Amino acid sequence: MQRSWYAWAWHAMAAPADDLRDTPPAPLPSALVAEIAAGAVPSPNIWNSPQVYEVENRAVDPDGVLEAAMRRIRPWDGATVLDLGCGTGFHLPFFAREAARVIGVEPHAALAAAAGRRVRDLPNVTVRVGTAQRIPLPDASVDVVHARWAYFFGPGCEPGLAELRRVLRRGGAAMIIDNDATRSTFGGWFRRWLTSYDAESVERFWAAQGFSREPLLTRWSFQNRDDLAAVLRIEFPADLADAFLAEHPGCEVDYAINLWWRVYGLAPLGGSRA
Ligand SMILES: C[S@@+](CC[C@H](N)C(=O)[O-])C[C@H]1O[C@@H](n2cnc3c(N)ncnc32)[C@H](O)[C@@H]1O
Repeated sequence: MQRSWYAWAWHAMAAPADDLRDTPPAPLPSALVAEIAAGAVPSPNIWNSPQVYEVENRAVDPDGVLEAAMRRIRPWDGATVLDLGCGTGFHLPFFAREAARVIGVEPHAALAAAAGRRVRDLPNVTVRVGTAQRIPLPDASVDVVHARWAYFFGPGCEPGLAELRRVLRRGGAAMIIDNDATRSTFGGWFRRWLTSYDAESVERFWAAQGFSREPLLTRWSFQNRDDLAAVLRIEFPADLADAFLAEHPGCEVDYAINLWWRVYGLAPLGGSRA
């Protein structure tokens, strides 16, 4: 089986720099590479197929489970929200409805431009090219960071976490959305694909970084089987996508997610500032 992009990203983030001589599985034309900020984690699903990724985003969590959980942790009305790794900006209008200000940061210049076009009529939203490791924002300027399937996949994302600490105001919150590989149909598919993925070490990593885990059970809901097939083909190698389609009837997929979150800078009772 072809080496997966997620496996490459996992290796790239966890390995020492001089162990990174191999290339991503789907090399991009050099003209395109030049427009991707250094430090970006290869994301061929959205980089190569942004329209299909849009279909995927529309299928995610029709019951609003994620939204409700995020609101419980840190409501964003009147806040400054940073969507880190915002891709084509799918989530920017959602935050802009209640936030005072929303900033999308994205290392892929063409995707950042698409995000900018999406929000051109929203005066409280801006989009910047940048990375989690070098967030183009001043110290203590953000109340809420949302990072959805972007860069923060566990060990290796420490430079981005240092930046979160820098840009978040006292009492600000980081909310990081990633797969829960331990359960659900999607989690099972993920494990079959990325056999070396170690969910326990990821959990230990987030706990050591002071993050809490909110385990959520969501679903994908597609309009038709063609949409599900197209999305599976950007997320998995072709042979696995075909196998999953053959095994799984219908247009719904149960999908477990971990929402990792942390509130920054609140002093614990009798303790010093975190
Ligand atoms: C799977 S896409 C998710 C996009 C968006 N969060 C969404 O839910 O629609 C991952 C995104 O993370 C971006 N990304 C990759 N490396 C990054 C980094 N170092 N810092 C910030 N974003 C990054 C990619 O360019 C891509 O747009």
